Order: sequence, then C-alpha cells, then structure tokens
Amino acid sequence: MLPHVEKRETNRAQLSPAAFRFLANLVYVRTRIVLGPEKQPLVIARLTRRRRQLNLATWEEYCEYLRHDRGEELQRVIDLISTHHTGFFREPDHFTFLRDTFLPPWMKQRRATDELCVWSAACSSGEEAYSIAMTLAAFFAQAGEARWRLEASDISTAMIEIARRAIYPAHKVTLPHRGWLPAFFQKGTGDQDGHFRVRSALQSRMRFHRINLFDPEYPFATRFQVIFCRNVMMYFDRASQEELVGKLVAQLALGGCLIVGHSESLLGMNPALRPVQPGVYQRHR
Ligand SMILES: C[S@@+](CC[C@H](N)C(=O)[O-])C[C@H]1O[C@@H](n2cnc3c(N)ncnc32)[C@H](O)[C@@H]1O
Repeated sequence: MLPHVEKRETNRAQLSPAAFRFLANLVYVRTRIVLGPEKQPLVIARLTRRRRQLNLATWEEYCEYLRHDRGEELQRVIDLISTHHTGFFREPDHFTFLRDTFLPPWMKQRRATDELCVWSAACSSGEEAYSIAMTLAAFFAQAGEARWRLEASDISTAMIEIARRAIYPAHKVTLPHRGWLPAFFQKGTGDQDGHFRVRSALQSRMRFHRINLFDPEYPFATRFQVIFCRNVMMYFDRASQEELVGKLVAQLALGGCLIVGHSESLLGMNPALRPVQPGVYQRHR
C-alpha cells in the first residue's frame, strides 16, 4: 500500500477527460494534429516530466498554466507532442526519383537564369533536408553547374535548432554512397567524437525556418519545383489535409512535384495534381 501522501499525488496527477480534451483541442487548433482518445497515454508520457518541472501537481494546474501562457509553453507542448521520427534517405525511392526522373529534364529545359528551388516542409531534425541537398549537389556535380537552393522548415523550434546545428551521431548517418561521407560531412573530434557535422559548403545552399504548415502565408516569394511534405499529413484529419494540399499546390510551380510519405495518399484531393509514382504527384495545371 502506498503511503498516504504518495497516493494522493498519484490520484491528483490523473489526466481527467476534461483536461485531456483541453490539451487535445489546444494542439489541434495550433497544429491540426489530431489527438484522439487513444493518444491519452502518449500525452501523459510526453508531458508529465514538463508538468513536474513546473512544480504543478495536477493536470488541471498545468491546463490553467497554459491558459495564461503567451505562447512559449504551447510551443513546448507542440515540440513534445509531435512525432519527429526521421532519418537520412528515409523512403529512398523519392531521392532516386529526384535524381533520375525529375532533374534530367529540368536540367535540359532550364534557362541560364533559372534556379531550382526545393522545400523540405516538416523536415523534423533536418535529415530529410540534408538528404535532398546531397542528392542535388551530387547530381549537379556530374550534370553541370546550376543554381539551386533548399528551404527547410518545421513547426518545432527544438527540431529546427538541431537541423541548424547539423551534427548527427555517426550511426545515424547512413548514406547511399561511401564517398558521400567525406564529401559532405566532417568527422567530429574531442567532445564531438562519434559524430559527423554537415560541411558548410552544403549548408550554405540551405535555410531553415520555423513554419506552421497552416500559417495563413508562407515566407517565400518564389514557387518551388519540388516540395517534400512527407509523413506529417497522416497526423491531420481529411479536411486539414485537403486545405494543406491546396496551400502547397499554390506554392508549387507548374510541372513541379509534391512528394508525400508512402503511407499517405493524395488521390482525389486536388484536381491540379496527377499521380506519378507512389507518394509523388505532379502539378499539371
Ligand atoms: C514524422 S516527422 C517527418 C519528418 C520527415 N518529413 C520525414 O519524413 O522523415 C513529422 C514532422 O512534422 C512536424 N509537424 C507537425 N505538425 C506540423 C505543422 N502543423 N506544421 C509544420 N510541421 C508540423 C513535426 O514537428 C515533425 O517534426
């Protein structure tokens, strides 16, 4: 039997349906991430440490704290609640598509002043963005110089910080070609031993932003030839997915491609898109 005080603390820290609804609604309104009742254990697992850090004994107190928050605590909740799983060259056929199917005709048809612009939207800690950048750099090294740049963004400030730092544990840096490790990464020494840092030559082509995909406007003046928006739509409901696809299509150049995760389908979602291969859709009008 637990001592009296401990038992009270355990009971008081139970997440009531009302407190869960408050938290789920807050997250939905800001991010469109849907937290159904089955996500209650996930919310407890990801937010308990933060609640304790603030010395708040109950979830009601934490909700009250959030009601008076100016946005900083909500950002923390978003950072903690959203799933950031990613990896270098995850779903590799999308990078093969870029290299073998998309880039050769773009290279042939471009005018001298054209710049290839790619956006890695919802890039998490940056691995996807650096994988795209390596694919582009390697392609243009062989096919001839061209102007290109990569924008990368995520709603999570914590993830964007990691992406900008560009330092990854060695075991996570899994690349399709052996020569790419020395070409694109520097080996860490001292307290960075066991890590690799992306070389600044590659990084200089890239910019990282904190962007909520549902922001009323995106901070880009140009349209993109390719937008990667992978493994994030699955957290949204159908209405939000359709809204987002409409916003992304508006940001896509004619003939440009929108790439989503393998478990996500955009079939029937937007008449301007036609399917090209699994996860790849082209704007045809
Ligand atoms: C599972 S990761 C996917 C990372 C990468 N695209 C990939 O496929 O490996 C999903 C990312 O979406 C971000 N995210 C969730 N809701 C978002 C929103 N409304 N706007 C922008 N990013 C969002 C999360 O912060 C998270 O880093």
